[in-house]
This record gives sequence, C-alpha cells and structure tokens, in this order.
Amino acid sequence: MTKMKAVSLTAPTKGNDVKLTERNIPSVKPGWVLVRIYSFGLNHSEKILRLSEINASYINKPIIPGIECAGKIIDASDTSFHVGQRVIALMGGMGRSFDGSYAEYALLPAHHVFAVKTDLSWVQLGAIPETYYTAWGSLFDCLHLEPTDKILVRGGTCALGYAAIQIAKALGCEVVATTHREEKFHLLSDAGVDSIVLDQGEIKGKLSGITKALELVGAKTLRDTLLNVEVGGIVCNTGILGGKYVLDGFDPIKEIPNGVYLTGFYSNNPTQKSIDNLMEFVDLHSLSPHIGRVYDFEQIAEASETLDSGHVDGKIVISIEKKL
Ligand SMILES: NC(=O)c1ccc[n+]([C@@H]2O[C@H](COP(=O)([O-])OP(=O)(O)OC[C@H]3O[C@@H](n4cnc5c(N)ncnc54)[C@H](OP(=O)(O)O)[C@@H]3O)[C@@H](O)[C@H]2O)c1
Repeated sequence: MTKMKAVSLTAPTKGNDVKLTERNIPSVKPGWVLVRIYSFGLNHSEKILRLSEINASYINKPIIPGIECAGKIIDASDTSFHVGQRVIALMGGMGRSFDGSYAEYALLPAHHVFAVKTDLSWVQLGAIPETYYTAWGSLFDCLHLEPTDKILVRGGTCALGYAAIQIAKALGCEVVATTHREEKFHLLSDAGVDSIVLDQGEIKGKLSGITKALELVGAKTLRDTLLNVEVGGIVCNTGILGGKYVLDGFDPIKEIPNGVYLTGFYSNNPTQKSIDNLMEFVDLHSLSPHIGRVYDFEQIAEASETLDSGHVDGKIVISIEKKL
C-alpha cells in the first residue's frame, strides 16, 4: 500500500470546502518516524491556518494541516521508538512547515513524538495532546498552580478552558470561570466550576481572592484580567479567542499592578517528561477529556465547518480507527 487519504491545502479554504484527497504515504528518513494516525483533535489555530495563515510564505504548501495526533509507530527509522508503540505528537512545525495530522499516516520528527502508556480510548487520547499539554504547561510551568490557589479561567468554554478547569479542580483549587454567553453557565457548572462570571469585557471589581489567572480571551481582556489578581498573583496569557493578538500601546509600568506577575505560554516545545507528568496526572485522577463532538475522517468537512462556527463545546475529535 503506497497511498493514503489526507487533506491537502494550497489556498484559503472554508470548512465545508475541505476535502479528502489521495497522497503518497511518506517515506521515512533519519530522525523521523512514520505514524499510523488513529485520532486527532481540531484546533482553533487550524481554523486560522485554513482561512488566512495559509497565504503566509512560511507555510510549506501544499500542506496537510493538523498540529496534533494520536497513533502507532509504523516505522521507527533510526530512533529509539519501536513498531506498534502508542504515541502522541504535537506542534514543532506540524501542519505548517511539514505535513501534519489530517491524514492516515504522518512522517514526524522524533523529538515531537512522545510515547504514552494509557488506558484511554483512541478518541479520548486524540483530545489530549495540544489541549491538555497547553493547559498543563500554562497551569504548572507558568502559573505554578497549587491546591490552595483560587484560579480564574477567562474564556472557560473552549476545549482548553475545560481542560484547565478539570486539571485545576483535580488538584484541589477553587475555580472561577468566565463566559461571554449567559446560556453557557450550565456548561461551566457541569464542568465543576465553583463560580461563574458573565464577561462583557470588564470584570474588574466582580472578583476577590484570585491568586492565579489563565487568560484565554487574550489581548482583548488581558489589561482587565491583570486588575483582578491579588498582589503576588500570576497571570498567564495563553489564548487569543478575542481575536486580538497584541497589546497596542501597552505600558507595563502602569498597566501591570505592583507585585502582579505576567507570563505567557506557547505549546511549541513539549518534552517527554512533561507528557509523562501530564499522562500520570490524567491516569491518577481518572480524567476523561471534555469532548464536544466526534467525527469519522470522511466527515472532515462537517467537522471543519463545526470548528469554524464555534458552536461546539469541548474538543472536536476525528476518528481514523477504521481504514479508508
Ligand atoms: N498558547 C498556545 O500555545 C495555545 C495552544 C492551544 C490553544 N491556544 C489558544 O487557546 C484558545 C482556545 O483554543 P481551543 O482550541 O481550546 O479553542 P476552541 O475550543 O476552538 O474554542 C472555541 C470556543 O471558544 C469560545 N469563544 C470564542 N470567542 C470567545 C470570546 N471572545 N470569549 C470567550 N469565549 C470565546 C466559543 O464559545 P462561545 O463563544 O459560544 O462562548 C467556542 O465554543 C485559542 O485562542 C487558541 O488559539 C493557544
């Protein structure tokens, strides 16, 4: 067998125009491994890639999108992986500078592929890599989260928000989350959030005792989030749901309150150690990812359209367990 089904993009493409095409199964090379993909999650960043970033010169076109996957090693090349090993992969240029996960097979650099031991199903595992690694890194590498913390998750109703809420609750934290839609309060309650705030752009003065804040709306609300954290507290900017990427005219002296710390997380550099720590925590606390919807690979257009609509709560996962 030399051919595989994949999504291949060369120009801006709306969700319902995404198609499966036939591509050659890539040939393995030193330092890279061939992975048979069983599931992969969809991400906000793939919507950005597909609708506009595809025009950027650094995107290696035609590109198979997809920044994460779960699967098995088919060819380990000269690496320490072995055939049949269960792995996840994410980031490091996946789906941008080299072909990504919207395919039956992917050739991936070994340093961005991670062995996993888990009882999770393929669909559950497909919801983990990018979303849970980003939540994990933001909460522990950046926010130094402790069970005694009261954490604010600003923009709680995205897949990343649900993952962060779940991890923080499992750790024992008090969790406050925001949504800009009142009709979504019950979803945050179901996720275990202790108190919910309607976010109409300014929440200053509505909260007290916040020691850590995970900012997922991003630059649009970051200034206001900084004003809601206690002295000694930390704010981590990880998301850009608000659609604003940079802080115009930001004056750090006046806009970061005295004794409040500002950091940011970027998921581009996962390590085997951080993935091991994350998977042990998932196992220890029997966490099951908050999955919004599952699609078969043939339904990739419908799934991409759902991603574009923003109308799904939780992670969208594509299953490729059955051979096409
Ligand atoms: N720093 C990193 O390395 C990194 C890694 C992964 C993800 N991210 C970022 O983290 C964010 C979440 O990613 P994701 O993949 O989890 O997203 P997602 O699940 O695709 O998020 C979609 C959800 O976000 C909600 N939302 C949209 N705009 C919002 C706004 N202005 N305020 C509050 N909620 C809003 C929508 O619900 P409603 O509008 O219906 O409430 C929608 O259901 C994205 O901005 C993504 O780019 C960053």
